[in-house]
Amino acid sequence: MTARGERPVVLLVHGPNLNLLGERDPTLYGTATLDQLVAAATAAAAEAGLELEHVQSNAEADLIEAIHRARGRCAAIVVNAGALTHYAWSLHDALAAYDGVKVELHLSNPSAREPWRHLSVLAPVVDGTIAGFRADGYPLAVAAAARLIRRAEQTEA
Ligand code: DQA
Repeated sequence: MTARGERPVVLLVHGPNLNLLGERDPTLYGTATLDQLVAAATAAAAEAGLELEHVQSNAEADLIEAIHRARGRCAAIVVNAGALTHYAWSLHDALAAYDGVKVELHLSNPSAREPWRHLSVLAPVVDGTIAGFRADGYPLAVAAAARLIRRAEQTEA
């Protein structure tokens, strides 16, 4: 998925309301803004030899299009889909049709919150999930993606 000498690309995807991070419910999500979280993920990606692209949208269709555009181009997707996590089967299908590494990410721990947040419709089509570590989850998710990319490269070689 990468030309020689190019860094593999990780697409970081954010869903609805995550543009409000920093102001939105800091007791659950922490005080870091979206820009600060993206900067932390970008730094972690650079450290792991990866390039990071970012998209945030409050519209499900935009996220699906971004995932389609990642097909055959990005080595991994790290996705915090916000509340769409819990009901957006179209996002599930878009991720199922993407054949790179997939890491689901949440600032909070949805399993410890309201029952409607306990279901992730994305969970069956991702490699793994990082949840509940607040801002620290961003470098952790990028590091997890990097490890899975390397593992895939080794099995291809
Ligand atoms: C979230 C958890 C979701 O349940 C919620 O709707 C969000 C944020 C998280 O990062 O903890 O918007 O994805």
